[in-house]
Amino acid sequence: MIISLTGFMGCGKSSVGKELAELLSFRFIDLDRYVEHKAGKNIPDIFREDGEERFRALEAEAVRDVIIMSQITGEDLVLALGGGTLSISSVRGFILGNTSCIYLKAELEDCLKWIGERNSRPMLNRSGKEIRELFEERTKLYENAPFCIDVTENGYKETAESIIGKLRLNR
Ligand code: S3P
Repeated sequence: MIISLTGFMGCGKSSVGKELAELLSFRFIDLDRYVEHKAGKNIPDIFREDGEERFRALEAEAVRDVIIMSQITGEDLVLALGGGTLSISSVRGFILGNTSCIYLKAELEDCLKWIGERNSRPMLNRSGKEIRELFEERTKLYENAPFCIDVTENGYKETAESIIGKLRLNR
């Protein structure tokens, strides 16, 4: 089984994913870290040196690699997607068709608060109005996920427990 986590930057995909994988004894992969490892440089450098389009191509390739690898090996997986992965039309259907996709829903203000001052995300390098527009655009994409959990009031572990309940998984 492959559980993928989607939602806006800062909503907790990686932290919840790690908890969830631990509770279920599944493998955990953070797609951003996987892309960085394959590219041999960090995401801000990929955006700066190669551009967003190149980053999306690497992200699409990574998501296919990881899902297919898990299907071939039969290894259960929790996959934390990037906040923009579902915006790539060529892999959106593939993700929704091959994983149990969970949308971690949070308010924009909370996401920005949780990201904090030390923000290195290239997609947030824009005006407050543009960030709000991006958030609204993205929300429509996240709503394609068949499962949604509101993370506002919950810690990472509680959220992971709710996902297990929602998917009716035993552990
Ligand atoms: C992005 C989100 C980031 C990362 C990249 C682009 C986006 O992931 O993939 O900076 O387009 O929303 P997180 O959501 O893990 O921060």
